[in-house]
Amino acid sequence: MHRLEYRGYDSAGVGVVTAAGGLRVVKKAGRIANLERALAGARLDATTGVGHTRWATHGAPNDRNAHPHTDASGRIAVIHNGIIENHAELRARLEAAGVEFASDTDTEAVAHLLRAWLDEHADGTIAAALRAVCQQLAGAFTLVVVDAEQPGAVVAARRNSPLVLGVGDDEMFLASDAAAFIEFTRDAVALGQDQVVEITRDGYRITDFFGAPAAGKPFHVDWDLAAAEKGGFQYFMLKEIQEQPAAVAATLSGHLINGQVVLDEQRVDQQELRDVDKVFVVACGTAYHSGLIAKYAIEHWTRLPVEVEMASEFRYRDPVLDRQTLVVAISQSGETADTLEAVRHARAQKAKVLAICNTNGAQIPRESDAVLYTHAGPEIGVAATKTFTAQVAAVSLVGLALAQARGTKYGDEVAREYDALAAMPELIERALTVTDQVRALAGEIADSRAVLFLGRHVGYPVALEGALKLKELAYMHAEGFPAGELKHGPIALVEGGLPVVVVMPSPVARPTLHQKLLSNVAEVAARGARTIVIAETGDRAARTLAARVLEVPSAPALFSPLVSVVPLQTLAAEIALARGFDIDKPRNLAKSVTVE
Ligand code: M6R
Repeated sequence: MHRLEYRGYDSAGVGVVTAAGGLRVVKKAGRIANLERALAGARLDATTGVGHTRWATHGAPNDRNAHPHTDASGRIAVIHNGIIENHAELRARLEAAGVEFASDTDTEAVAHLLRAWLDEHADGTIAAALRAVCQQLAGAFTLVVVDAEQPGAVVAARRNSPLVLGVGDDEMFLASDAAAFIEFTRDAVALGQDQVVEITRDGYRITDFFGAPAAGKPFHVDWDLAAAEKGGFQYFMLKEIQEQPAAVAATLSGHLINGQVVLDEQRVDQQELRDVDKVFVVACGTAYHSGLIAKYAIEHWTRLPVEVEMASEFRYRDPVLDRQTLVVAISQSGETADTLEAVRHARAQKAKVLAICNTNGAQIPRESDAVLYTHAGPEIGVAATKTFTAQVAAVSLVGLALAQARGTKYGDEVAREYDALAAMPELIERALTVTDQVRALAGEIADSRAVLFLGRHVGYPVALEGALKLKELAYMHAEGFPAGELKHGPIALVEGGLPVVVVMPSPVARPTLHQKLLSNVAEVAARGARTIVIAETGDRAARTLAARVLEVPSAPALFSPLVSVVPLQTLAAEIALARGFDIDKPRNLAKSVTVE
């Protein structure tokens, strides 16, 4: 449960079928530590059970609404991720039949429905009950259930929310991701859409919701326990920032074969790639920012028009999609509901979908026509860091693959860009050396009311990412703007002492743009802002003008976000720590957003 806590940490609970034959449920609001205190000294004499960490959707995060939920007699325990969209209707029907609810959740209805079905089917199994109940549910759900009267079995079902089976020796596991069980087994099976699985000590059986035999997707977890642990760091996020050189190197590795950029999975042929006449990039949060960077690279290398859209908005505005549209869906988890629905919408309109994902076998890559995995390893900190830089590397590979397929770049040009990308891990390593300076700066500005971030060209998405990190970790008002847009309104926010962080382009590679940014630094400094500039090593003009300069190594313009984002990630983490917050588990957030 600790390894899954990053997915939700409003409350936690367990429900076990005890050797004595009953069900024991213990649940507490807050972190798992509260549950541990409640369980201290308890002997949970059991071999089957369920445990859950919650990110509240329906019902406040208190003891009552924590999972598991049970039927009235406390025979069946249910845990749930997702949202049961027809819960109000189900609840009304159950209440009309005399059922009393003990919580405000959408989940509890499932426990009562299971019990009602079992009461009507004297010889029915809990797996059959779950299949029947799933047929009545709308929305997204992973459900895991134990029944005190059918000990030795755990049953689970999924629709639009992840569920992975771990296959051990004389033991089986079910979890939202493999981190929960890699200590015991690395042999796993990803459950498919609308499947039910029943596990017993030594086997498992998968069916669809109607009882027909079905199969999941077996895979071997290729990272080890150390990757999912802190390894001497106080926080996962600090470790993950340091892991960025390795994450980018692993993402690039093996993708240039005989001078050709290759993806991990490709179910579209070269002709279909050649026929692409426009590209949409859809993603959320940090992944959206890597998508904004993709636009610069793909348009520059392929001359294809690229639109970048927040996945949560995409399908609601009837975008113009057809067979010649390529939709690039970027998602660390591969299970973000908004991005998944955007993928489904695009495919329904016959567009091709290429997924960039960090999670092997997740739903988004499974439903896509082509896949490029970011091999960043598990990211446990809720704030995306190493997966962002891995995504920036991956979108560059996608741009090169498209340029190659369309003939807008010759093989040797593609190989040269790839080599420049392959040199980036070393530069990120050097960018990481600013950590001490950033820590000192963080202490100075931790009490500010707000921070502005400015950039132009690829520096603009980096500014957005710096602002997002600060908002989510330090709970400070932060905004990212294109620097040129500032004077069209936002400059009114600038007042004496306001920290303004500016992402400078290279004075050598982009002299005109550099000059423009210098003017923007001067404009805010003239109004009393405390200017902090992320600049290429040796940028004397920036040094002269800005109050503070954080230097990063010189890099090709399109790849420069890989280094310029590093001090911003560290700045947000250090400010949050100075303000006394848990940077791995920021308030109100969860790592994977599996609800729309
Ligand atoms: O798993 P995904 O990449 O689809 O997640 C998208 C966003 O929810 C995610 O990037 C979020 O914005 C991060 N917490 C930002 O640090």
